[in-house]
Amino acid sequence: MLLTSGILMKNDFVKNNIRYSLILKRYNLTAMYPEMYLYVLTLSSSGNVLAEFRTNTYEYSPTVPYSADQTACKLYSVWMEGIENEPEEYIEYLEKNEYNKRKRRERPETDSKDAVIIQGSPRPDGNCAIISGWVKETLESSGLSCKIIFPDDMIIHPCIGCYQCYNYGCCTFKDEMDEIIGSVKNSSLLIVCTPVYTDTVPAGIKICIDRFQSYHAMNKIAGIRGLQITEPSGNNRNVNKQKKEIKGLLFSVAGRKGKSNFDHLLPVIEAFFANAKIRYSGRVLADNMDNIRDISKCKNLEDKIKNLTKKTAES
Ligand SMILES: Cc1cc2nc3c(=O)[nH]c(=O)nc-3n(C[C@H](O)[C@H](O)[C@H](O)COP(=O)(O)O)c2cc1C
Repeated sequence: MLLTSGILMKNDFVKNNIRYSLILKRYNLTAMYPEMYLYVLTLSSSGNVLAEFRTNTYEYSPTVPYSADQTACKLYSVWMEGIENEPEEYIEYLEKNEYNKRKRRERPETDSKDAVIIQGSPRPDGNCAIISGWVKETLESSGLSCKIIFPDDMIIHPCIGCYQCYNYGCCTFKDEMDEIIGSVKNSSLLIVCTPVYTDTVPAGIKICIDRFQSYHAMNKIAGIRGLQITEPSGNNRNVNKQKKEIKGLLFSVAGRKGKSNFDHLLPVIEAFFANAKIRYSGRVLADNMDNIRDISKCKNLEDKIKNLTKKTAES
């Protein structure tokens, strides 16, 4: 994949016997996303970045009367003018300002389990809960650790499409989604247990899936040479990137009879797995649940789910 970057503006200068460099760089990300460019404005001294601002073309909605290019160039001039007028005060101001805080925001360290189960039903005692129990039991009997995540019990803000994740590799929102992403990243297997709601996944799990966009963005921009992203400890190295393969399984239930009830849910899960670099490794779909009511009455399903879980976990 061809990712090019170029310097748009640059000024090396000395103030109070200290050498500084103000650089505006543009990264061409169009090989990954149509018409996406990332602008990075940095003030550095002796190789240390003192202040940085990032913006990308996707941040600017159609009705916003300015562009990433204009914003970045304007800010370059504003910073340069500030430094010219009051060097000491302005450089100190830049070092402490909002842009830097965003870049350096810390993420909590998350636990490390072999497998993560996302239980997407808001019902804590429904069929997906039963499936999650079977999966957990199977994994643990194979000596693997796992954790069940209930998105509906967590505080997760929906994605607002601000595209800040393409600047910094992390989301604008600092909430419990960090824990979910951290757990999935540290695991080798993700199992999604979800009912069909209005032909797709329930709201809680959809919020989760959308918020995985920041994980996707982080994996993408972490590969760009010279572009640093935030890691959990707050150090600015490219260690956030997913390093090992994560396998993914889907276990889903629908109230109505017929496998066509999963027709719209399946592409959502497939897109999610692809986006999050998770290898789709199998699924079990159980329909007619509003009639059957209790999935544990379907003995063949229990075996099917347990066997697929075991086979995938041990492969
Ligand atoms: C809001 C809502 C929407 C639903 N939409 C569908 C649907 O579109 N198709 C379907 O087959 N079942 C639908 N169902 C039924 C559930 O998929 C079914 O009851 C399932 O067993 C619930 O999973 P749970 O037992 O894990 O909570 C819906 C249920 C709810 C509450």
